[in-house]
Amino acid sequence: MEKDTSVWWKTGVIYQVYPRSFQDSDGDGIGDLQGVINRLDYLSKTLGVDAIWLSPFYPSPQADFGYDVMDYCNVDPVFGDLTVFDRLLCEAHQRGLKVIIDIVPNHTSDRHPWFVESRSSRENPKRDWYIWQDAKEDGTPPNNWLAVFGGSSWEWDETTQQYYLHSFLKEQPDLNWRNADVREAMFNVYRFWLDRGVDGFRIDVAHYIMKDPEMRDNPINRDPSKGELKPTGDYDKLLHIYDKGHPDVHGVYHDLRDILDSYSPPRYSVGEIHIAEWKEWATYYGQNNDELHMPFNFALLVAPWKAAAIRKVIENVEKVTPSWGWPNYVLGNHDEPRIAGRLGVEKARQAAMLLLTLRGTPTLYNGDEFGQKNVEIPLEEQKDPWGKRVSGTGRDRNRTPNQWSPEANAGFTPAGVTPWLPVADDYRTVNMECELKESRSILNLYRKLLAFRKLSAAIKSGTYELIDPTPADCFAFLRQSGHERIITAFNMGETTARFDFHRFGRLEIIVSTGMDRAGLADSRYVDLSPWEGLVLRVL
Ligand code: NOJ
Repeated sequence: MEKDTSVWWKTGVIYQVYPRSFQDSDGDGIGDLQGVINRLDYLSKTLGVDAIWLSPFYPSPQADFGYDVMDYCNVDPVFGDLTVFDRLLCEAHQRGLKVIIDIVPNHTSDRHPWFVESRSSRENPKRDWYIWQDAKEDGTPPNNWLAVFGGSSWEWDETTQQYYLHSFLKEQPDLNWRNADVREAMFNVYRFWLDRGVDGFRIDVAHYIMKDPEMRDNPINRDPSKGELKPTGDYDKLLHIYDKGHPDVHGVYHDLRDILDSYSPPRYSVGEIHIAEWKEWATYYGQNNDELHMPFNFALLVAPWKAAAIRKVIENVEKVTPSWGWPNYVLGNHDEPRIAGRLGVEKARQAAMLLLTLRGTPTLYNGDEFGQKNVEIPLEEQKDPWGKRVSGTGRDRNRTPNQWSPEANAGFTPAGVTPWLPVADDYRTVNMECELKESRSILNLYRKLLAFRKLSAAIKSGTYELIDPTPADCFAFLRQSGHERIITAFNMGETTARFDFHRFGRLEIIVSTGMDRAGLADSRYVDLSPWEGLVLRVL
């Protein structure tokens, strides 16, 4: 059944801006909010996305590059100030772009005034705002919980002789969401930004905020295939069933949804929720369209680029998304290896076509539209605290500056300035300016797909139907709205594949991943070269 898709977050395309790496406007080698303003025309007109999600820009010691917040209601001077933020919001809205901001509810910086108070004494009124526990009799931490970024998630506080919990760095103490004052204070943070006019929130590790109230030990993980993270030290030696995702989390997002719905128009929420078990993941939509609008779906980030695997991901998403819910897909973000690095540019072009034609909201990661790759940075020059602590986890490689032009520093920051992370070596050819001039560039493929999507009700909001059978190593689906029928077909194999589409009648090729075919297709068979993708209209 076709769904009500009148809202922007269902029909639109979201673009993640990682502000540190997007565009520097003041020559300090770090991107900033004025830099984002300077690129709004690119985003709204040249590329043609509908919304931006800004990664954290709040005052922060930057222990985890902004995911350690010192003041939730302000802007770090490195990025600008509230006036610049308001201008960004206004300029984005003038161009029809929605603005989503990142909220980090699970933890603050250890330099947040709440934590400074909390750790000052056991009697402090904010003591219970964080999660404090006595040591075991032998002085060791209260349980076996491990931090994502390595080591125990408990840190001993000498002054008050207790441990505090930190699911990530020790500089990121976890808030105690079971305390009603914390809940209210954090809901007021949401209200602060809603009143300023933001259109929604991306909620950092949304499921972490509620832990087992009894703080039980996590069980040992006896099945390595159940690991949650990449090759990350000891973390995957445990099954993380007690240190996050306690069912009480749903009450919080239920209340948050009431707040979001009380605004006119209602505002949007997407949770960062890494849960591999599909049914549990889908519970974050709520019981009755009453929690998050979407839990981020990260499955395509890790799926092998094989027809059967991709088809399975989509089958699962279609199966578990509740009838009122709306799917979503991502190919990259500031935490994951770049898609063009992981798969190579050819498959990254297929990935772009898949992302932009599936049923569900696409979220793009800045720079992926240029085909930016991972930049391997020697350990001694790495900045990411995770990469420095646990070998193989570094995220600097996928956070290098956006490549805008063939000029020095790729136009990210002026010549002569050292950018906070190195610009990729390939920037003289892989950049916005050059790719705009090159008719078959990956950027022009993104632009073409985005432009087509805007005009196609079938793609934006139509039904999804798997086309089966297809040749080996191939995958195809039909999107339909009213009389409009659009087919997307992929050859994910090494030899030419022949699709028999005669049941659809006449077909027109709208776009190919190679940007080298258009017009009427053969009346019965359509051949796809190895690693080609096609969008076709049923005439
Ligand atoms: C998830 C964020 O995406 C990541 O960048 C951050 O390090 C952790 N949460 C901790 O906030």
